[in-house]
Amino acid sequence: MLKLLTAPVGIMVQYSLPMVPGPEKINWEAQVNGRMVSFPIDSNAILLDILRDKGGSLGTKRGCDMGTCGCCSVIIDGTPKLSCLVLAQEAKGCEITTVEGLSSGHHLHPIQQTFADCGGSQCGFCTPGFLVVSAALLQGNPSPNTEEIKTAIEGNLCRCTGYQQIVDAIVKASEILVSGSSIEDSTLPKSDPHPGFSGE
Ligand code: FES
Ligand code: FES
Repeated sequence: MLKLLTAPVGIMVQYSLPMVPGPEKINWEAQVNGRMVSFPIDSNAILLDILRDKGGSLGTKRGCDMGTCGCCSVIIDGTPKLSCLVLAQEAKGCEITTVEGLSSGHHLHPIQQTFADCGGSQCGFCTPGFLVVSAALLQGNPSPNTEEIKTAIEGNLCRCTGYQQIVDAIVKASEILVSGSSIEDSTLPKSDPHPGFSGE
C-alpha cells in the first residue's frame, strides 16, 4: 500500500540528499610572467579563475567565459590559449605569460606601444587578449603578412575599435622588432602636447 509522507501544516520537512564529494584539493604551481607561483587549488579549477583570483592577473579579462571572445587569452609554453577553457591542472608546471608579463620593466612590448600609437584600443576590454595573441604571433613569426595577422587574431572580438587599427598596430610592431630598435622607457616625461595650458 502506498504511504504518503505528511507533515503538520506549517512545518518544513527537510530530506537529506546523499552528499556529493567536493573537488579534491591539489597543489598547483607554474611559472607566471617569469615568477614561480604555487597555490592550493580545487582540482577542477579553471585557469582564468586561478590567474585572476590567486595570481592577481586582473589584466586577463573574463568576457564570454565560453571560448568565443578571446579576452582571456594567455600564452602557455609559447602558444596562445583561452584561459577560460583550460583546466588549471592542464597548465601545471607550464610557463604562462599574461598581458602583465609582456613589458620589460618600464619598456613596453612593441605591440603595446603600437596599439597606443595606432589607436588599436578604445574601451580596452578586449585589448589584453589582442596584445597577448599578437605578441605570441610576433614571437614565432616576427614579420607576418596581413593574412597571417588576420588568422592569428580571428578568435578575438572587438566591439568598438574596428580591426584595421589593430592590424596596423601589429604591422608596426613587426617593423620595430625586425629593425631591432628599442622602445623608450614609458616613464620618461613626455613633451607637453598642449603648451600654454598652464597659463604661460
Ligand atoms: S572569456 Fe574566454 S574566450 Fe571569452
Ligand atoms: S576596444 Fe572596446 S571591445 Fe575592443
